[in-house]
Amino acid sequence: MARVLVTGGCGFIGSHLCQALVSRGDRVRVLDDLSTGLEENLMPGAELIVADVGDPDALARAMEGMEVCFHLAAVASVERGVRDPRGTHRVNLSATVGVFDEARERGVTVVYASSAAVYGDLDVLPIVEDAPTRPLSAYGADKLGCEQHARVAGVAHGVRTAGFRFFNVFGPRQDPRSPYSGVISIFCERLSHGQPVTIFGDGGQTRDFVAVGDVVAALLAGERVASRGAPVFNVCTGRSTSVLELAGTIAEVCGVRADIRFEVARSGEIRRSLGSRARGRDVLGLAEPRALRAGLEDVIAWMRAGRPGLRVREEVGVSR
Ligand SMILES: NC(=O)c1ccc[n+]([C@@H]2O[C@H](COP(=O)([O-])OP(=O)(O)OC[C@H]3O[C@@H](n4cnc5c(N)ncnc54)[C@H](O)[C@@H]3O)[C@@H](O)[C@H]2O)c1
Repeated sequence: MARVLVTGGCGFIGSHLCQALVSRGDRVRVLDDLSTGLEENLMPGAELIVADVGDPDALARAMEGMEVCFHLAAVASVERGVRDPRGTHRVNLSATVGVFDEARERGVTVVYASSAAVYGDLDVLPIVEDAPTRPLSAYGADKLGCEQHARVAGVAHGVRTAGFRFFNVFGPRQDPRSPYSGVISIFCERLSHGQPVTIFGDGGQTRDFVAVGDVVAALLAGERVASRGAPVFNVCTGRSTSVLELAGTIAEVCGVRADIRFEVARSGEIRRSLGSRARGRDVLGLAEPRALRAGLEDVIAWMRAGRPGLRVREEVGVSR
């Protein structure tokens, strides 16, 4: 039984990770300020500290007695970074430096969320981890900064880390009403209610959509390979899907005809994104990722079940 801290454990990905950790018998503590996460997402059996991960005292309390920290807390929104680069930098990078520093004091291993946003818009696909990193957003720059600080924490202070560059993650408990949620949760919500969806541009832009269960598997494997060398891994499927194809598949799963509206492409949007999963497969031993259609069926089933987690929040009126 390991003693594990999960920052951001009430969020979309964090709640799935906590579920896996609690079910394998770990003692799980969550540090979350509930800014986008939900108290109702907290796994029974996990302890919750409601605080800002950037608060050194709260972080010290949260890390006390822990062996591993999964650091997922972040403002997971490229748009927020455009509007408020200073505010998001404080959470996305400065707080991460604090996590590495506290981990150094206490000999804690850190497995943390980076992002495919560190790559920017690359021509050579699929993207391997050794590809150039040229972020195009404050969010991507901060995530790259986390990786650089992980390296320094390892080299200079012996902190063991592993970083994960998530591509487009989707699954149950992703909030489609949040302006930051992924295209899948928005399309599933609208198409399942027979509403039209809007595609910016011609729909030919492609993404690598990875199911949240595969992200959890990667993070758990990260514990084993964390080292002073600060390794980083893509978390992706190696399969490319256009946004137009995506809308069609979701409509099929929902049993409706897709009503698609097109609007002018958003400036600066990346045209093609596709990760290589070779390193994750060879080094972490990650299994074949879940098929997109099967993952979409999970999301639709969760929505049809009344979106457990999100619905509870509305009923009890937990404020964000
Ligand atoms: N969802 C994706 O497709 C994706 C892609 C790349 C990277 N990521 C990264 O994965 C991680 C989890 O993302 P998610 O999609 O689950 O987002 P999320 O918003 O659902 O989860 C983030 C959690 O962190 C908490 N949090 C935010 N600021 C905090 C603070 N200052 N102090 C304490 N807690 C705070 C939120 O309340 C929330 O529970 C993030 O680091 C994000 O950058 C996500």
